[in-house]
Amino acid sequence: MNPFAPSARARNVQLPIIPTVAGWIAETPGTISLGQGVAYYGPPPEAAKAVERFLATSGNHSYKPDAGMPDLRKAFEEKLRTENGIDAPFERRIIVTAGANQAFMNVMLAICDPGDEVVLLTPYYFNHEMAIALADCRPVCVPTDENHQPRQDAIEAAITPRTRAIVTVSPNNPTGAMYSKKALTWINRTCARRGIYHISDEAYEYFTYEGAGHFSPGSLGGDEHTISIYSMSKAYGMASWRVGFLVAPEHLFDDLIKIQDTIIVCAPAISQAVALEALRIGRGYCERHLEVIGKVRRQLLLRLSGASDLLTVPASRGAFYFLAKVRTSMDDLLLVERLIREHRVAVIPGGTFGITQGCFLRIAYGSLTPENAAEGVDRLIAGLREIVYNR
Ligand SMILES: Cc1ncc(COP(=O)(O)O)c(C=O)c1O
Repeated sequence: MNPFAPSARARNVQLPIIPTVAGWIAETPGTISLGQGVAYYGPPPEAAKAVERFLATSGNHSYKPDAGMPDLRKAFEEKLRTENGIDAPFERRIIVTAGANQAFMNVMLAICDPGDEVVLLTPYYFNHEMAIALADCRPVCVPTDENHQPRQDAIEAAITPRTRAIVTVSPNNPTGAMYSKKALTWINRTCARRGIYHISDEAYEYFTYEGAGHFSPGSLGGDEHTISIYSMSKAYGMASWRVGFLVAPEHLFDDLIKIQDTIIVCAPAISQAVALEALRIGRGYCERHLEVIGKVRRQLLLRLSGASDLLTVPASRGAFYFLAKVRTSMDDLLLVERLIREHRVAVIPGGTFGITQGCFLRIAYGSLTPENAAEGVDRLIAGLREIVYNR
């Protein structure tokens, strides 16, 4: 046996697919990516000016408070109260993390012991599955229905004495599905009744279309068992800056701080300074950009629905994703590689999101312009037609 072998824990976790797809794209110049899960814009230019001020202020180069800059946490407390209906005093309820991913990892380490179970609705967001496995826990995958909505009977049946949490992502990655207030309320109440946490990832809260409304389970008042996670990455085009927020029950605060201090001490302070200015500008910044993203979404949907011989796509109204089911028995990863290499269009294979039956592709439209969206989706449909029918 190799004495330097990595831990079974790390070894058994799936390797993220994004770098593999990025490698194929890099080898295929001119590829249009319908794979990237980011918005097409960057942070508000006014907010970016905070960088100069930050650099000019002495004392800004040392460690900052573990839980985040008090001004930023206070601003987020205010945002939660007015926008989400969540009343969470920042002092012992809000922690600034290096993105929503780190928030989720912190939560896993704070609430789970090795061997515990966490319920994920499939298709899941792959970093959630990875974080659960890295915490030495078991993801229990519960399929959603054909419209990617939670199935109550299946969720209830998946809960065991080892279950510590149910995770919901609405608006959803990778399906774009919005969960109704009724469904989220049922899940939240079920968690309370069964003595488990409800982790609600709301990274895409502003990205909704055609009147779909976002609902925060944290507004139901289950302060002892509801954990809410937010991100600056999508709404404010700040993916590389690494700022997210964790809203947790007060009784977890000290343990979450131990984990935060060990992993990162504090989220990058310069990014927190920009995040504060961005929050002051507010959600209107994101909403201005939603016009373009909404236009691209309609364009894609129109073209995809004209290819119903090849694929089916629920017209989901959230995030910036569609999950297409392709009518083929072909391996999804191989299909993605051929789409890139032969047709210069990239999407993400469904297997990445825990889909084990059927050939699914995630189509992301947040980073596109109306021009390259049209070209991208035309290449996708033409490519699928050629590969699926002539292979
Ligand atoms: C559901 C969901 N949560 C969290 C993240 C990661 O967010 P962050 O960049 O804040 O870590 C993503 C990114 O794609 C996501 O889709």
